Amino acid sequence: MLVRKTKSNKILSVIIFWCAFIPHSYSEKLNGTDVSEETDAMSPFESIMASYKLVRYQPRHVHLSYGSNPTEMVVTWSTIDDPGSTSVEFGIEKIAENRVNGTATLFEDHGELKLKQYIHRVILRELQPGQNYVYHCGGDMGWSAEFYFRTMQNGTNWSPKFAVYGDMGNENAQSLPRLQREVEMGSYDAILHVGDFAYDMNSDNGLIGDGFMEQIEPIAAYVPYMTCPGNHEQKNNFSHYKNRFSMPGPYKSMMYSWNMGPIHFISISTEFYYFLKYGINQVIEQYEWLKADLLEASKPVNREERPWIIVYGHRPMYCSNMGTDDCTNFDAFTRVGIPFLHINGLEDLFMENGVDLAIWAHQHSYERMFPLYNYQVYKGSETEPYKNPKALVHITTGSAGCKEDHAEFKKEKPAWTAFRSSDYGYSRLQAMNKTHLYWEQVSDDQEGIVVDSFYLIRENHSSYQIPDGSNV
Ligand SMILES: [Fe+2]
Repeated sequence: MLVRKTKSNKILSVIIFWCAFIPHSYSEKLNGTDVSEETDAMSPFESIMASYKLVRYQPRHVHLSYGSNPTEMVVTWSTIDDPGSTSVEFGIEKIAENRVNGTATLFEDHGELKLKQYIHRVILRELQPGQNYVYHCGGDMGWSAEFYFRTMQNGTNWSPKFAVYGDMGNENAQSLPRLQREVEMGSYDAILHVGDFAYDMNSDNGLIGDGFMEQIEPIAAYVPYMTCPGNHEQKNNFSHYKNRFSMPGPYKSMMYSWNMGPIHFISISTEFYYFLKYGINQVIEQYEWLKADLLEASKPVNREERPWIIVYGHRPMYCSNMGTDDCTNFDAFTRVGIPFLHINGLEDLFMENGVDLAIWAHQHSYERMFPLYNYQVYKGSETEPYKNPKALVHITTGSAGCKEDHAEFKKEKPAWTAFRSSDYGYSRLQAMNKTHLYWEQVSDDQEGIVVDSFYLIRENHSSYQIPDGSNV
């Protein structure tokens, strides 16, 4: 009881210090009369923390992602102070069976307070396929709560299930409770978050990003949370995105590919095309990497084994929304290439390699396109447009919920768009087998009802024929 009283007094004294002294100190600084030498080198936040012996080693923001191969799982978390060790204890029956160490990196936000945190990463290797594991993370200074995950099943003859969405904020993350319930019911093998997080992760000295990572922990600590960058992550060359997430490959989570069951997923950064201030070389590097990745995935022997190729990135090539976003322009950068130069456009590359599905977000709405190339529709047949289509299918699902409003559509519905909804919600994807892919859209505004669904059927996953008048 005495201890609690002492702590309360200390907290009170810090608040009084903040309210009374700090503003006064600021005004002195502004007037050039500040005589305090002790606090000159410190930020206001550091000044307060220096007077208060609080240590913060407790793991927070725990989340999972797939590693470079299906037997790996990556655990990422954050601590405010450096606990001196980075470990995961895990096992099939109990956590104490294995302990693996990882790495910690200091991440400093660029905001006024220069807040610091340590990002911890541990790769769990040689896991048994399709197995449930329990784990906790942390180290010698303290452990997280106990979490669990299920590893990826072996091979390609099974039907993985995903929740897919973009544009989910810290404020008004409307779909999150429903998603959490479904994750806890075991409805998904993985989550795809197609860009735009927190709004924004760097806002308020990075505290908005902290709040968001805390919000998604009830999902992301249990199923892999796979991501791509959006425009809201662009501050300081995507520093929060690159530091907080751990996607496979060497490109700091900006682009990577991974396999799951019969699907080869490719995650790209559409933002390279829009933030050329960070270097046009990133567009070129990604294009060359993507070309090589698609070439490999499209080899007959690989396509036979793992036929579905699904690309996801943040900004769509097509949309019928109101406004002036690039997808409302005929020559969207990602579709036909860098402005004026018209190089490194992606639509022809996707056609040449027979990409089955392209998933986008950015527009706070849901839109399913007919099989489409260069604004022309290429249905399989009039009665079954998605059975053996002659071009890839684009879907935009960017309505998970954020502090910005729903995106409205143009009144006139173009011939190339099949279904539109401005409701907040998210998508579900399941690869049924090597020929049938199921997709549906959940409206959170309408209490979780399914407002759209369709099967994409491809009996032969070869490249599409590019008609005359191509983008090349
Ligand atoms: Fe966006």
